[in-house]
Amino acid sequence: TAQRTFRIAAIPADGVGVEVVAAGRTVLDALADASNGRFAFAWQEFPWGSDYYAQHGRMMDEDGLAQLEDFDAIYFGAVGWPTVPDHVSLWGLRLKICQSFDQWANVRPVEFLPGIQSPLRKADDTDLSWVVVRENSEGEYAGFGGRNFAGRGDRGEVAVQSAVFTEVGCERIIRFAFDLARTRPRKKVSSVTKSNAQQYGMVLWDDVFRRVAAEYPDVETESVLVDAMAAKFVLRPEDLSVVVASNLNADILSDLGSALAGSLGLAASANVNPERRFPSMFEPVHGSAPDIAGQGICNPVGAIGSAALMLEHFGLHDEAKAVQHAIEVTSGKGVRTRDVGGSASTEEVTAAIIENLLV
Ligand code: NAI
Ligand code: MG
Repeated sequence: TAQRTFRIAAIPADGVGVEVVAAGRTVLDALADASNGRFAFAWQEFPWGSDYYAQHGRMMDEDGLAQLEDFDAIYFGAVGWPTVPDHVSLWGLRLKICQSFDQWANVRPVEFLPGIQSPLRKADDTDLSWVVVRENSEGEYAGFGGRNFAGRGDRGEVAVQSAVFTEVGCERIIRFAFDLARTRPRKKVSSVTKSNAQQYGMVLWDDVFRRVAAEYPDVETESVLVDAMAAKFVLRPEDLSVVVASNLNADILSDLGSALAGSLGLAASANVNPERRFPSMFEPVHGSAPDIAGQGICNPVGAIGSAALMLEHFGLHDEAKAVQHAIEVTSGKGVRTRDVGGSASTEEVTAAIIENLLV
């Protein structure tokens, strides 16, 4: 038996989520096989998602969170299918896990891979690499609000969707961003808000940012409004290292980042409970991609990169680097799926990554 066994709950859920989780598991199992018993992965797969909803009227078991609680990590695919309203599937599974397990830091690296064309011309001759740190527990996705006056038939319905910003919530994510910046070649944190227009929550965020920044004199800082930051992603990306933003703003910016890197299918993410009171969850940024699901052509790189983030979380740093390196060698050799201009299948890319991992 292995010296260390990591217990992982796999939740492939819907669409391409099933295909990319299978791909990531294959890579991790190959790594464990090659470790000569240093470590192993014990997987348990959960059948939750939109099919489960069709049968049971819920996205996961009633005691689902209790079933997940003792795992070392959760490896997630994607949730959402045209048969279930998106807000039901998302809140019933993914957001439920994130919130209940206090996974308040969502880490989304933006990595540019060799052999993959970026829509940014600058990417050809500039080293670009930055990471979006997303506040993952409150802000615009806190779920506070309500709808009223429906059904009066006079088009008078009213909806309120409130954003929630707490000093504790702002401080912990901002501190997380500064600590992360210290581990990177460029020690810089860019804080993103829209505090000119949203004068309460986001001004609180700005105040906390200034206060925390004073404790990190070795880290460069800037505060940028979200619209200007969208432009900066395109025009001056070489000036970025760690970008910290609220739930909604970081969600949008990180999709922009992965599109700039070449495809949504490339982007990895970690939903972290930094105190480690609960399992953290690792998942590609993309959704279930119903337009290409079931064809064996989706890009597994985002999910495999997320598996590398999970290795990092387990303290298997060399192995995490090896997976990231194998991803780069594979794309550099031209083994690519269609979304990034290749013709390889999901399985072919996965097999090539494993081959480049074990040399
Ligand atoms: P999506 O990410 O599923 O797809 C957007 C576009 O990117 C599509 O053209 C798709 O083909 C492409 N794409 C996505 N992943 C890819 C991959 N691995 N390889 C190649 N191409 C890929 O976003 P969309 O269409 O807005 O949402 C579809 C469903 O997924 C919805 O039900 C939505 O709610 C859900 N969703 C779930 C997420 C999650 O579970 N974390 C995140 C985003 C969306
Ligand atoms: Mg998103």
